[in-house]
Amino acid sequence: MMKVGIDAIGFYTSNYYLDMDILAKARGVDANKFRTGLGQEQMAVVPPDEDVVTMAADAGFEVLKHVDVNEIDLLLFATESAIDQSKAAGIFVHRLLNLPSRCRVVELKQACYSATAGLQMAIPLLRENPKRKILLIASDEARYGLNTTGESSQGGGAIAMVLSQNPRILSIEPESGFYTEDVMDFWRPNYREEALVDGKYSCEMYLKLVQKTWEQYTQISGRTFFDHARFCYHVPVPKLVEKAHLCLARFNGISAISRDEMQAQLGASLEYGRLVGNCYTAALYLGLLSLLENDPEDLTHRRIGFYSYGSGCIAEFFSGVVQENYKSMLDMVRHRDMLKSRIPLSLAEYEGFYNFRYPVDGGSLVISNYQTGRYRLAEVSDHKRFYENAKL
Ligand code: HMG
Repeated sequence: MMKVGIDAIGFYTSNYYLDMDILAKARGVDANKFRTGLGQEQMAVVPPDEDVVTMAADAGFEVLKHVDVNEIDLLLFATESAIDQSKAAGIFVHRLLNLPSRCRVVELKQACYSATAGLQMAIPLLRENPKRKILLIASDEARYGLNTTGESSQGGGAIAMVLSQNPRILSIEPESGFYTEDVMDFWRPNYREEALVDGKYSCEMYLKLVQKTWEQYTQISGRTFFDHARFCYHVPVPKLVEKAHLCLARFNGISAISRDEMQAQLGASLEYGRLVGNCYTAALYLGLLSLLENDPEDLTHRRIGFYSYGSGCIAEFFSGVVQENYKSMLDMVRHRDMLKSRIPLSLAEYEGFYNFRYPVDGGSLVISNYQTGRYRLAEVSDHKRFYENAKL
């Protein structure tokens, strides 16, 4: 069967972050709770002149250098931080990236799961047409509110992927297990800026569906735990990923996993997530990027198991095989520099960014330049957002 999957991958996160120790001190929490209890070290904070559109365009710009832009005839934009109830955020990105006019653009929503929905929906389209290339972008900003229990699991960023036949990074295997159940573990009514969450219940559902989807996936594929060299999970907080992996191991009759075994099986998939925080739809694929760029071993021809979870809820377990020369398609130095060169915020600056509001009465506001990425939100006026390429 013809291989299809991820041909190029790009990443963008904001130029600002909050250290979890500052948040812990401000909220009267022991710093070890966030660092060890959640496994989180820093979280990205999105300034007023960035949003899911600008972050998506920045991530998209990075991948387009690997392909002929005219070959892209579909842009799938996965987000749960929509900026409009009708117009797809991807249409702004389509213009910023100069995609061809013969290109379908659509926004996908199902909490953190929708990038996986996009990936799985793209696969039959790619098998149908060998020349086609699909741009899949996941872009999100996690907001729970100041002084809430979810505050320590915020973050933001975008992952862009070119999907094609004969992919140069990862070929997606056809077998997968998926599971839907109508639950209220995390949701955001249309009138709210911040998510509502039943935190403990959401973790229970996340863990329950690992088993459900794995069971189905292994029945269909005939594979076992040890047929997977690495595992990548959706990352709300790194500690939950470790718990999920332990659950999966126990479910497979492995009663204990040493720290080293855990480290080897999750590889470096949590490294970037510890610094960026939850970026919802992008979090699983940021885990993949982190793994490919930071794993000490050569992963060529090795199989990775993926667990995608979106509250509400839908989850899916699937797998992919790393392709030869995948390293030549990565830009580890750039991504590490992006993370290293970010500006740390004080608590007051973080709260200032957080509390910033765009006009909702049709008034005009020119937005200050926070010196972030290539693309920025320059103005909101007459209920419209105006974006610009800051490098032009
Ligand atoms: P919390 O109330 O902040 O934390 O909730 P906790 O009290 O449960 O403590 C966390 C851990 O820290 C515990 O470890 C404590 O013992 C430990 P555990 O018992 O679980 O092993 N701890 C300490 N460790 C060391 N030193 C200390 C210390 N003190 C305590 N001094 C929670 C955490 C993640 C629930 C919260 O941040 C939250 O509600 N976040 C939002 C929801 C969420 O992330 N859910 C995850 C699953 S749902 C999902 O992934 C979907 C999602 O991405 C959305 C979507 O799909 O769109 C969220």
